[in-house]
Formats: sequence, structure tokens, C-alpha cells
Amino acid sequence: MGKVISICISKGGVGKTTTAVNLAASLAVAEKKTLLIDVDPFGSSAVAMGFTSDKIKAGISEIFSFTKSINYTIHKTDLEYLDFIPANINSIQLDEKFARSSENRVILKNSLKEVKNNYDFIIIDCPPVLRGITTNALTASDSILIPVKCGHLSLDVVDRLFQYIFWIREISNPELAVEGIILTMYEKNSKVTEISERELKLKYNQYLLETNIPTSSLLNEATFYGKPLCLYKINSLGAIAYLNLAYEIIDNNENKKLNLNQIK
Ligand SMILES: Nc1ncnc2c1ncn2[C@@H]1O[C@H](COP(=O)(O)OP(=O)(O)OP(=O)(O)O)[C@@H](O)[C@H]1O
Ligand SMILES: [Mg+2]
Repeated sequence: MGKVISICISKGGVGKTTTAVNLAASLAVAEKKTLLIDVDPFGSSAVAMGFTSDKIKAGISEIFSFTKSINYTIHKTDLEYLDFIPANINSIQLDEKFARSSENRVILKNSLKEVKNNYDFIIIDCPPVLRGITTNALTASDSILIPVKCGHLSLDVVDRLFQYIFWIREISNPELAVEGIILTMYEKNSKVTEISERELKLKYNQYLLETNIPTSSLLNEATFYGKPLCLYKINSLGAIAYLNLAYEIIDNNENKKLNLNQIK
């Protein structure tokens, strides 16, 4: 049964989409069968994956309007182990309709039941809001991965996200876990990075992952070619950082499984 991980925080431009695309691709490189789902109406994951609108046959708007089965919305990618469901909400009318239908919190969860067994990991790229579609994503998720941009740390935003997680646990998903906090745009030896890391550690040390994602203009450059960085420059620091993140997540999950088995 695939593990569903939402990439989520209510702050724009912190590396959610970059993390979703590059983590999903890195898991696929490690031969973990992975499904990337973009639920952000802006559809940035599709751009980063090289999916122009002519290549998209269907996406989450069909899932949320019940017009196509989830299987029909799944697209193959350049990586054998990576599939993709794009966000194809390209008009204001559709966006409004989508916002209304996403008030039904279990649509995504119910759709995913059909395909969960086909994957090791399902990665969801969320928009920077804590309602509607994001509530759907977290209701359908086993865990949440939180990207925090160094130098623009606002602990309030992280605090608010944890309140939201507690609320989701109460209303729709008691099992929702925190996969971890990942520092993005990390600059070694920079004062702002040092301060961000120190502040986060004071309150959220137990959630901080070991991997950090460095600032790398190649991460941005690769999106212009519609490729995850590991298919554009695999030996770059950014690509290696996301491969490390994939390794850390695989390792954490396999060890947890092992511990559970040992307890039984
Ligand atoms: N580690 C990094 N180094 C340098 N640039 C980065 C890095 N991560 C992301 N970026 C760039 O920062 C910008 C914002 O990143 P991204 O789109 O992933 O953020 P987001 O959190 O998904 O934003 P939104 O909330 O608007 O969806 C993009 O131009 C991206 O290429
Ligand atoms: Mg995004």
C-alpha cells in the first residue's frame, strides 16, 4: 500500500513544488513506484515536469467533478517508476467550481483507494492555503512534509500549520503524521540560515530532517526544460540533495516498519 505524503505549508515560494517534483523523481530513480499529484490550481508541477496543456488528457478537475476515474487521469513520465496527475484548472469558472467541490473533504481520499496499491509513494504538491483542496490532500495523506525556506522563517506560519494538522486529525484523519521539516534554500555559513535553523530547532527539533536542500539556480533552470534536476544534471548539489532526501524518507519508513514488526 503506497504511502501518501503531502508537501504543505501556507507560505508561497518556499520550495513546495520544487520539493514535490524532485523528491518524487528521486524516489522513482531509487525504483520506488511513485505517483506525483499536483493539487495546486496554478499547476506549477506540470510545468516543472514538462507537461504542456496539449499533453494533458485529464487531471484533478475530472477527479473532483467525478467525470473520469482516477486511473484515466494518470500520465506516464520520462521515468519508468514515476506517474503524474496534473492540475488542469485553467479557468476562473473551473477554479470556483473546484473550490466548491473540494469542500467535500474525502473526494481525493476515496479516489486514491483505487490506485494506492500500485505505488510505494504518492506525493501531493499543495497550494499555499490551509483550506479546501489542502484539507482534501491532508485527509487523504499518511503524512505531511513541511518545506521551510531559510532566511524567510516565520515561526508563526509553522505554528499555524501545526494547529491545522491538529484540526485535521480531529475532523477527518486521526492518523496524520509529520514526515518531517525540510530546510530549503539552505546556505551553509550564512547568518540567516544559521538563525532559521537555530529557531526551528528550539521548538521543532524532533521533526527536522537531516537532509537540507541548498540554494541552487539549477533547480529553477531545470524547470525551463521541464525536467526534475536528476534528469538534467544528476551530479549537481541540488539533485544530490533531493536524492539524499528520498533516501532519508525511504530509510525512515523502512526502519519504522522494521520496528513495528519487531514489536509484534
Ligand atoms: N533550493 C532552491 N534553490 C534555488 N531556487 C529554488 C530552490 N527551491 C525552489 N527554488 C525556486 O524558488 C521559486 C519558488 O519555488 P517553488 O515554486 O517550488 O515554491 P512553492 O512553495 O511551490 O510556491 P507556491 O506556493 O507559489 O506554489 C521557484 O522559482 C524555484 O525554482
Ligand atoms: Mg507550488
